[in-house]
Amino acid sequence: MNANSLVSIADLSKEEILHILEQARYFEENPNHKILDGKVVATLFFEPSTRTRLSFETAANRLGARVIGFSDASTTSSSKGETLKDTIIMVSNYVDLIIMRHYLEGAALYATEVTETPIINAGDGSNQHPSQTMLDLYSIYKTQGHLDNLTITMVGDLKYGRTVHSLLMAMRFFNPTFNFVACNELRMPDEYMEFCDRHGIKYNVSTDFSPEIINTSDIIYMTRVQRERFTDIMEYERVKDLYSLNNAMLSDSRDNLKILHPLPRVNEIAYDVDDNPKAYYFQQAQNGLYARQALICNALGIDILKTQKD
Ligand code: CP
Repeated sequence: MNANSLVSIADLSKEEILHILEQARYFEENPNHKILDGKVVATLFFEPSTRTRLSFETAANRLGARVIGFSDASTTSSSKGETLKDTIIMVSNYVDLIIMRHYLEGAALYATEVTETPIINAGDGSNQHPSQTMLDLYSIYKTQGHLDNLTITMVGDLKYGRTVHSLLMAMRFFNPTFNFVACNELRMPDEYMEFCDRHGIKYNVSTDFSPEIINTSDIIYMTRVQRERFTDIMEYERVKDLYSLNNAMLSDSRDNLKILHPLPRVNEIAYDVDDNPKAYYFQQAQNGLYARQALICNALGIDILKTQKD
């Protein structure tokens, strides 16, 4: 296993997280650095993506790397029965870094066990999405000025939403208070509440997206109900429209409140929120580019801040 791989956000210390955020800020201010000339990056997406794949590929391009890969596994030899192991070993022969998304939880960890090429997990099933978390942290830091002592309300699909699982774990260093707002079917899994208990993280569980919760939040993190994870489509139909945020609901919210969403959205944020200055989800996605430039460098053992000092 390559020590620079990023499989879970839990792999990163507080110092490492803060250092990556500093590098993201550097890349926001200095976007084009051809420091990866001659390197090849693979993006292997076994699940659909817009933001993650395109921002990783743009990040690699801005750093001067070449990108190969696929966005539709049905066009690859995995459709002929090639295993994930063989695919990873083969691609490792060609590239310096593999960025992969897979529908199976643990797929990225498994990939690190069959290759010495660094792996970045771009989402594995309902488990983890660590690069999303870095852009979420960067967005929170930019909008709040710090990461400490914030009240963060997570709403929607807390069962299958890998972004909320990763973000919750990363926030353990910053003394947050969480509100977990979801219906019983999609409540935050016990293992993550136990994680909060172990790390002394305060949290409230509610099925009601109440004015009191909205008006005491610094961050509201809306999520899509993940239709692709349901085995029973009738259950999806029952729960898909339970939580939706509209502009009127924000009338008494805190001045510093920002609305985040990993996107794509379906109907959990009404379009009338988009023009509210508290809506931040499109800028959040843009921040992904800078965070992912930092993560690619990190995975290749390059510290852009140190490089600039030398
Ligand atoms: N947030 C996110 O992972 O978006 P994509 O599925 O479009 O990559």
